[in-house]
Amino acid sequence: MKSVQVNLGSRSYPIHVKSGLLKQTASILSDQNHGQKWVIISQYNLMELFGFDLMTELNESGFNCDYITLPLGEASKCLNEFGRVISQMVEIGCDRKTTILALGGGVVGDVSGFVASSFMRGIDYYQIPTTLLAMVDSAIGGKTGINIAEGKNLVGAIYQPKGVLIDPVILESLSKEEVMAGLGEVIKYGAIWDKAFLIDISTWLEDIDSFPFEDAIRKSCKIKAEVVSKDEREGDLRRILNFGHTIGHALESHLGYGKIRHGEAVALGMKCAGFISQKLNLLSKEELSTLNQTINRLPLPQLPHINGNHLMPFIKTDKKSEKGVLNFVLLDGLGNAISSTDVTEELIQESLKVLN
Ligand code: GLY
Repeated sequence: MKSVQVNLGSRSYPIHVKSGLLKQTASILSDQNHGQKWVIISQYNLMELFGFDLMTELNESGFNCDYITLPLGEASKCLNEFGRVISQMVEIGCDRKTTILALGGGVVGDVSGFVASSFMRGIDYYQIPTTLLAMVDSAIGGKTGINIAEGKNLVGAIYQPKGVLIDPVILESLSKEEVMAGLGEVIKYGAIWDKAFLIDISTWLEDIDSFPFEDAIRKSCKIKAEVVSKDEREGDLRRILNFGHTIGHALESHLGYGKIRHGEAVALGMKCAGFISQKLNLLSKEELSTLNQTINRLPLPQLPHINGNHLMPFIKTDKKSEKGVLNFVLLDGLGNAISSTDVTEELIQESLKVLN
């Protein structure tokens, strides 16, 4: 099967993208089955939709597979749940050879990956993402972690999976709104890395019913894999994946959990970052208009009036800020992102007008 490769020397791994792939999991993983215990970590609703069938198929194909569920929601990315999963793994007889299959969205992937990084000093795991966001972003690149009271993802590790298995058919189980929001992250890849891809996305969005998800996901994975292969630990280049996220994260925190989807917040954040890039003469008016036209093809939420003075503290505490200096990702032309420390508070405030 043609796959996208994340090139990290001995920790390299494939990303398989193919419609109907979930049903082929047993044959894809058969080479890796040496009689060890396999554990699907997921959520109960996902087990009902896909996980129980997957477990049956694996067990009928000679695997020894069990499962553990996490509660729904971001709240399960916590030390308590982490500890509970580890204890449950011991109870069901997991050991150093056990392999985890993380079946879910970002929360499941982050917790499962962190469990894999630390259980008996590290075991193998695979990501099987079930949301568009996880397919194009969080399942790739090895960022794992949990939240503590003091902040999100403050405990974690960069620990790469052995492989990522993406079945775009899974998206059919999600609401249209959920999938459309995830396209914000897909647009991001075109904006930061590949202008021709951005133009393709824009054209594809004219008729969402025939949007080629498989191609768009594969291309997004290819871009993410290229960035991660060059800068696994976010020395510099990997930061560009945060295009739209500084203001996007601030909007999520300011509006409150559940009020805006992550992909929608990123889409709006990209409009602000595009505005700033144009003001700094990095992006032409024509390029900004191409970016905005593409983003505007997504059904973005109508926000309440955003008071810049209320949003600013969230922007300043964004994790991209180091030693008090904010690293803001801008576009130096479409398809080329840069990280800048030259964005003033005034300019950020001015950019917020594009939100209303
Ligand atoms: N989601 C951004 C990264 O993986 O670096």
